[in-house]
Amino acid sequence: MDVEKRHNCDFDLISDFAVSLAREAGMIQKKHLGLAKKVEHKGAVDLVTQVDRMCEELITCRILERFPTHRIVAEESEHRVHQGSPFKWYIDPLDGTTNYVHGYPCFSVSIGLEVDGQIVLGVVYDPIGDEIYHAIKGNGASLNGKKISVSRTQQLGQSLLATGFPYDIRESRDNLEYFTRFALTSQGIRRDGSAALDLCYVATGRFDGFWEMKLRPWDLAAGVVIVKEAGGRVSDFENGPLRIDSGEVLATNGLIHGQMVSVLKQSKRER
Ligand code: IPD
Ligand code: CA
Ligand code: CA
Repeated sequence: MDVEKRHNCDFDLISDFAVSLAREAGMIQKKHLGLAKKVEHKGAVDLVTQVDRMCEELITCRILERFPTHRIVAEESEHRVHQGSPFKWYIDPLDGTTNYVHGYPCFSVSIGLEVDGQIVLGVVYDPIGDEIYHAIKGNGASLNGKKISVSRTQQLGQSLLATGFPYDIRESRDNLEYFTRFALTSQGIRRDGSAALDLCYVATGRFDGFWEMKLRPWDLAAGVVIVKEAGGRVSDFENGPLRIDSGEVLATNGLIHGQMVSVLKQSKRER
């Protein structure tokens, strides 16, 4: 890839490194699951535990040890952004904290790398299922080393969808309207609680489509490249280009993308 030549780096090696970090953080999560832990509230329903912080510390320290000039955008310590490097890591050390606190076994580690403004690799690890999702731009996506691709479902009415709700749900009910619409037009909707895994499930074909609003770049960076490399489509709700800092994402197998955009647009018009 040109970018690798330009920056004299090897994405395979960097991605092996990211996989090892995700595995290590996942082990910490597994070890502490179900044990009493201090839970802090960042908002009424927005939680953080010392496991989130431990995992973030581990991942960011390791990255800076190896790549001291790289920039890092991580959920629990936004101030760690170093300016001036074309390399920018997006880290969600524990995606699915509410699940984690309740012992619901659906959470993940999400690590994405952007170079020159483009996401070039993504790693998402589900420590409970021991599943590593991985993609390098231009090289396809894999699950535990086996190539994956999106589903072939053609009709929204036969699709299994996923979504999530933002932490300000008590003040803003926006997604509830979309949820109602899709509940009436799809085969079913799941709300699993880890956006990174939701995206990976689209990439493997377990879900046919996923939409959510008010997500943060660390929720999206890794999963979005994994969906694209698995042959899926990602956009904003109007079918425009996805910006990971806009919060809004629609990720599908491509075949039902237009149908989901129509439902989103109609719901917005009628609001
Ligand atoms: C959350 C999860 C959840 C989504 C929320 C996210 P966190 O991330 O991805 O599925 O619905 O919007 O904030 O807080 O557990 O890292
Ligand atoms: Ca998250
Ligand atoms: Ca998190």
